[in-house]
Amino acid sequence: MTNNLTVIVLAAGGGTRMRSKTPKVLHPVCGRSMVGHVLRAVAAVEPERVVAVVGHQREQVAPHVQEHLPDVVLAVQEEQLGTGHAVRIAMEAAGSTSGTVLVAYGDTPLLEGESLRAFVAEHEAAERAVSILSGILQEPFGYGRVVRDADGDVLAIVEEKDATPAQRDIYEINSGILAFDGAFLAEALPRIGNDNVKGEYYLTDTVQLARDAGLTVGAHPLADVLQTEGANDRAQLAELGREMNRRIVTRWMRAGVTVMDPATTWIESDVVLAQDVTILPGTQLLGTTVVGEDAVVGPDTTLEDCEVGVGARVVRTHGQLAVVGDGANVGPFAYLRPGTKLGEGGKIGTFVETKNADLAAGAKVPHLSYVGDAEVGEGTNIGAGTIFANYDGVAKHRTTIGRQARTGSNNTFVAPVTVGDGAGTGAGAVVRRDVPAGALAVSAGPQRNLEGWTLQRRPGTAQAAAAEAAGASTGSPVGTPVGDTAHKTSQGDGTRVGETPSTGAES
Ligand code: UD1
Ligand code: CA
Repeated sequence: MTNNLTVIVLAAGGGTRMRSKTPKVLHPVCGRSMVGHVLRAVAAVEPERVVAVVGHQREQVAPHVQEHLPDVVLAVQEEQLGTGHAVRIAMEAAGSTSGTVLVAYGDTPLLEGESLRAFVAEHEAAERAVSILSGILQEPFGYGRVVRDADGDVLAIVEEKDATPAQRDIYEINSGILAFDGAFLAEALPRIGNDNVKGEYYLTDTVQLARDAGLTVGAHPLADVLQTEGANDRAQLAELGREMNRRIVTRWMRAGVTVMDPATTWIESDVVLAQDVTILPGTQLLGTTVVGEDAVVGPDTTLEDCEVGVGARVVRTHGQLAVVGDGANVGPFAYLRPGTKLGEGGKIGTFVETKNADLAAGAKVPHLSYVGDAEVGEGTNIGAGTIFANYDGVAKHRTTIGRQARTGSNNTFVAPVTVGDGAGTGAGAVVRRDVPAGALAVSAGPQRNLEGWTLQRRPGTAQAAAAEAAGASTGSPVGTPVGDTAHKTSQGDGTRVGETPSTGAES
């Protein structure tokens, strides 16, 4: 590879057909902006310097480009007068005219570093003034055509609008990616005019200038034409996105991942999967998600920036910034919010939402619960229908539950509160005070049975018929607690508010 390569990325255009407040090159494809993909491919050829030409919406484009490539040289093109004009500005900013100059566009997300590397190598080996990365298209409309003579030597690139009918029948197009001898380019750019149908300075006019100077010019078709295809509107964006996803999914399958339904599986660029991972239909793995060996994810699961451990199982789950330990089980229908950490062999089960929750190894929250701002110790089981009440209306507080605790169903932990190791709580407990290790906390009132209530208060109903058939007595006057005469309150007698007898024995 050359030891003095300058890459120029053109990204000054307006992209009006996107109809978006987001600049075209910032639209994401498989989790990364279009220009981000291009910059990654460019970085793979290890250039000496990269110049990005920005113009339209550069207040958004420039910082984004810098984020991807901190030592990028930014060249500002105030007015988009054509690709020749853009490259001229870039060459001035580059401050160097020696070596090879590679020009690429910021809107070709499928571009691969390997293609650029091969193209530059061929250009340099052939010692050309200009090399064209071309493509053979069945529908070449809109592209510049590569015009060759009878011997096949490249003569010029002619833009669609300037082409003769015969030239429009040429299927070989200019992809837009060109390689130059830097010294030739610097000398040729000021000589490009704008006397053409669009009134633009065409970079492609350098081909003819090189020919006129008796220099070598060549074109080299890239078989995989999609690599140089740009997205101009959202329909093309979706098409390129689907194609990139297809390529990513295929790559992972080749690397030993089972994907049951590639068509409904979405895997973004930065996701990392281990061998023997299985992905079931309708699954999206986004951001920096990492999945460990033998894990099974899906069906119908979305994980963004998550970590799934070896042999874990994640079913019908939506997760974000969550860590699922080795051999752990999640779902179906779980919602893992940021800061969720499930230890090895743990379980976050059905209809469970978690947030900022650290569940140690073997901890289980199997059913219908909200676990927010909590620590749950090793081997602890949280009963069904439990709410970690972390918010007092003003501030969030934490709940800490020790190891090997067993909490009852339908509990509320009113944070801040701590439950000790090996402690327990009764069904329906509202835990407001700390529970010492090994203690059982009960807070629901003792149960009282009002004998005969159904027959007295619901006569003539199916419920009453069933009670009668079962030999239920009509009992004592409603409201008299049976088996708990010591505990009397005017409320909380087991009937619902509004049904509470007003003339019972208690009132
Ligand atoms: C260009 C090529 C054409 C090629 C096609 C491939 C020229 C004259 N034509 O045509 O041969 O087949 O690309 O897609 O080069 N840009 C700037 N500043 C400008 C003008 C353009 O930064 O002043 C950027 C655009 O943002 C875009 C790229 O350069 O990323 C190409 O510009 P565009 O106007 O789309 O060129 P085409 O007419 O498509
Ligand atoms: Ca274009």
